[in-house]
Amino acid sequence: MLVDEHCTLSSGIRIPRVGLGTWMISDEAVAKVVRDGVEAGYRHIDTAQAYANERGVGEGVRTSGLARDAIFVTTKLAAELKDYKSALASVDVSLRQMGLDHVDMMLIHSPQPWADFRAGQSFDEGNLEAWRALEDAHKVGKIRAIGVSNFERADIENLITNGSVAPMVNQILAHIGSTPFDLIDYCQSEGIVVEAYSPVGHGAVLKNANLAGIADKYGVGIAQLSIRYCLQLGLLPLPKTANPDHMRSNIALDFEISGADMETLKAVQGGTDYGEASAFPVFGKTRQVEQSAG
Ligand SMILES: NC(=O)c1ccc[n+]([C@@H]2O[C@H](COP(=O)([O-])OP(=O)(O)OC[C@H]3O[C@@H](n4cnc5c(N)ncnc54)[C@H](OP(=O)(O)O)[C@@H]3O)[C@@H](O)[C@H]2O)c1
Repeated sequence: MLVDEHCTLSSGIRIPRVGLGTWMISDEAVAKVVRDGVEAGYRHIDTAQAYANERGVGEGVRTSGLARDAIFVTTKLAAELKDYKSALASVDVSLRQMGLDHVDMMLIHSPQPWADFRAGQSFDEGNLEAWRALEDAHKVGKIRAIGVSNFERADIENLITNGSVAPMVNQILAHIGSTPFDLIDYCQSEGIVVEAYSPVGHGAVLKNANLAGIADKYGVGIAQLSIRYCLQLGLLPLPKTANPDHMRSNIALDFEISGADMETLKAVQGGTDYGEASAFPVFGKTRQVEQSAG
């Protein structure tokens, strides 16, 4: 069963092989979503300071009926925090919001503040400051594992060369039609676990008729095909849904995509229309308000 599988991070910590995303689920709604996810079998929840729902995620974890150590909780340091002092202080704010004494993992959300996403300016110094804050919070046990998100190879090399601990995870956009194979190879060669965010293309791949044909062959839906594709690339997918039926089907992945079909899926390029979501930096590289950043 997928929900019983784990990856092992470079530090030896085990992380469940699939996580439930919570972006765009409100603080009021998310506690129930977390409880429904736990009921469906998820043991790994992904949130962020920028999602403005850490309080509700913490409530969901605390009221799930499971022991705290049975659920792996990830949050992310706001992309704008690029100095040691405010980054360190915000770790405590996240813990307080969630009502937890530690989180399992914290990631730097983006190498650039969202307003400067992929704009070419270097934030190497600021990323080292933020990283040092996460390293120190990790040392005292407030965070069990630390990593990054949206980092490109050069951003990671900066931390590996100048930090004390290498990132354990890089959480990046990866789905059929948008898979950064070189970055994935680099991370995996460095022992960095790659998490796939938006594994269902933020919903956009669901409209792809060609994918429907392949999914039909396996008797599954496009969402299941998309999540299974990530798993077979060695990625850790983070599908988001608030719908309990979708929660269950997204982890019912007891099928194997053939080698030939994997090659077909890997060759799919573009064709993903994120629609209104293209306005988000992670999908369109354009400016977007911080609270709604992915
Ligand atoms: N680090 C970052 O910068 C970053 C950026 C983006 C996302 N993320 C993380 O990755 C998570 C997932 O990404 P995402 O939210 O962009 O999108 P996603 O998981 O690729 O897709 C979510 C969409 O697909 C629909 N969906 C999911 N399963 C389905 C199913 N079985 N059948 C039909 N529709 C289905 C959902 O609708 P329903 O709710 O109706 O099922 C929702 O509209 C986020 O929640 C967040 O935790 C991180």
